[in-house]
Parts: sequence; structure tokens; C-alpha cells
Amino acid sequence: MKTVNVGFLGCVNIGCGVYRLLQECGGTMMETEGVRFAVRKILVRDPSKPRAGVDTSLLTSDPAQVLDDAQIDIVMEFMGGEQPAADYLVRALEHGKSVVTANKMALALHWHRLQAAAKETGAGVYFEASVCGAIPIIRALTDSLQANRIDSLMGIINGTTNYILTRMTREGASYEAVLADAQRLGLAEPDPTADVEGFDAQYKLSILSSLAFRTHIPVDVIYREGISRVSAIDIACGGEMGLCLKLLAVAKRDGNNVEVRVHPTFVPKTHPLASVSDAFNAVYVHGHACGDMMFYGRGAGDAPTASALVSDLVKAAKATEHSLPRFDIAGHVDPAITICDDWTSTHFIRVLAADKPGVLAGIAGTFAGCGVGIASMVQKGECDAQGRVQLVFLTHRASEKALRQALSQMDAHSVSVQSVIRVEGN
Ligand code: HSE
Repeated sequence: MKTVNVGFLGCVNIGCGVYRLLQECGGTMMETEGVRFAVRKILVRDPSKPRAGVDTSLLTSDPAQVLDDAQIDIVMEFMGGEQPAADYLVRALEHGKSVVTANKMALALHWHRLQAAAKETGAGVYFEASVCGAIPIIRALTDSLQANRIDSLMGIINGTTNYILTRMTREGASYEAVLADAQRLGLAEPDPTADVEGFDAQYKLSILSSLAFRTHIPVDVIYREGISRVSAIDIACGGEMGLCLKLLAVAKRDGNNVEVRVHPTFVPKTHPLASVSDAFNAVYVHGHACGDMMFYGRGAGDAPTASALVSDLVKAAKATEHSLPRFDIAGHVDPAITICDDWTSTHFIRVLAADKPGVLAGIAGTFAGCGVGIASMVQKGECDAQGRVQLVFLTHRASEKALRQALSQMDAHSVSVQSVIRVEGN
């Protein structure tokens, strides 16, 4: 039986999860997959620190012992962060070692380098665990939906923000209160910026949209807005209109026009994505042949992420030829592709407006003058101390630019725009 030697880069939570899973399922995999895995070296910052169940003789603080050891066939990376992870992955590939990684940041920002190094030596780059943890969405896009022209992909691809929004929705609680509680429970990072400001989802969407559209969509062309300004009142108002708030990653392709964006988004409560609660992830895909599909599961956590990593390890070990994306991971947008910055959607708009005759007519007139149609409007509650009322509008589909123009033309003396949230899936 073939023995495949594996080197680990990092061994904190996910690395230990992979180590445990390999111990747990190694015997079964020898039978079902015909491969035996031997972990040969594990790069850690401090080899003297005990790691439950891990053979301490494997630990090293010298990256060369993993990256330059000719006996190691496959390198698995769980360090996270951009550097030195990206450079280590490139170095492993340059030495002909295939790499398996969960690191969406290193992959999304250095994919062109990894791809070039892999092409040079014939090694493979495996990254199922980089997006949505255990959900086999990368495999679905690359190995199962090849016959499709995928024209849209919408995903809840960050568990932390979905957990926060779910609790805000259920409890009517503020963003700050739920975030603090999530941090206390260890469900949100002490510095939550990458999750709550949408950076994590932006990296993941770069990977997913590139594979879905078979053209490289770099991170920096993806529009991004996080959830830190979302208020409980917007969630409640949207809820009364049959809408549920999610941080959505949206990618659409129409011919050579592509729109890619991450932002708080209302979806109808009847949409399958509305039922994705707590820290769960889901990706809703439409292909011209397969129609609508939704992939659902755990997007984070040691065991779910280890599940995807070990699956990639098996795939890498059994490959007779490693398959890389056949389109060019160029690091920039293909000149034939236009990244659209003026997409069309329905908008939820909440304003505080003076409760005086003519103010509502003025707002309606400003929208109409910019080509934005109003689908519905409700007045919420009573006047505040300054004689203002809350008005909530749902527009018909309108372009982003037309909407922005209308909002900029509102009479600032009588109207104060509180929030603008896009609606998808309606
Ligand atoms: N922090 C991510 C999330 C998990 O909350 O979904 C790792 O990608």
C-alpha cells in the first residue's frame, strides 16, 4: 500500500483537528482509499508547548524541516493569515510538493503565485477547506457542475456574521450587545474586523466567483460592506415586510459583465437562504442546466474544516495528475470581462422625515426624478422630539447609481437617510 508522507504547517485548533481525524479514520481510509498517511513533521512556533494527542517528536520550529524535506509528499497548511503562509505554500510547490490549505486569505491574495509555482513543478493546490468549511462547494463547482454556465451565486459564507444577525433577528438585540456576547462565548474573534467588515467573505467570494465564472476575480474588485452599522430597527422593519437580513456574498454573470459584492442584504423569508441560521453557511447557485441548488453546512470549526482538509489530502494523494483551474489565474481581471459597479436591485430605505405636509410628496418626487419607483412605504411609530417620523420604503428594481443620485438630492432639512439595504432573491 502506498504511504504518503505529510508535513503540517501549524498545529493549533485546525491542525490538531486534522491530526486527530487522521488518527481516527486512518485505518478506514487505508481500506476504502488504499492510502496510508504518515505525518512526518509539524511546524509550530513553540515545540515545547504540549498539544494533546500529538507526537511531540514531530514538532519543529524550523520551516525547512517541512518545506525542504524531500521525503514529504504533501504539505498541509493551517497557519492562517497572509504571510508567511503564502510564501511557505509557494516554496513547497516549488519543491514539487502538493499543498492542501484552509487559508482563504493566502490563496485569494497569492493565487497567481501558487498557480504559477504549481504549473512549473506539476504539483497540486487543494483548497476545499478555504471556503465554507465542510461544505464541498469547491468540488461542486470544479468537479460536478462543469457542464453549466453559472450565472449567479449567492452565499452566506461567514458564520460569525450569520450568528450575530440571527441573534439580532430573534432577540431584537443590538449589534454591539450580540457581538460582545459572541466574543465572550468565543464565537467571534477578539478583533472581529475580518468577519464583521466582510473581508473574510470577500476573500471567499473571490475564490468562489473565479471558479464559478472560470475567470479570475481578484479580491480588490469585489464591493464590500460589513454588518457593523446594521441596526435592530432595520431588521425589525424588514421582518414586518417579510424580509430577513443576511450578510450575502453575491456574484452574477451576464455575458462578459460580472458583478461581485458582499454586503448586508435582505432576502424574502420564503427564500431558502433565509432559513440558514446561527453559524451555518450556505451557497445558492444557479446554473443554466442544473437550475437552482443550495449547499448547506458548517462553515467553520475544527472538525468540519478538518473534514474538508482530509478529503483534499486523499484527493491529492490519489491524483495521477493534479488538476489546476484551466483559466488563467492572472492576478487581474481578464480585459474581456467588465466588472459592473452599477448593478440593479430592490432597495430597503429607512429615513427620518419631518412630519409636515409636502415632505412625503417631495421624497416621492425625488425618487421619481431619478427613475426610482417606490413599491411600498410604511410610516413607523409616532413623531420623535424633533417632530420627525420614520418612513420605510421598498423600491422597485433600480440601479445603484440612480438610487444614490436620488438620495443625494433629498432635502437635507426635512429628510435624513438612516439606512439603505439591498434586497436579493425577490
Ligand atoms: N471566521 C470565519 C467565519 C470562519 O466566521 O465564517 C473561517 O473562515
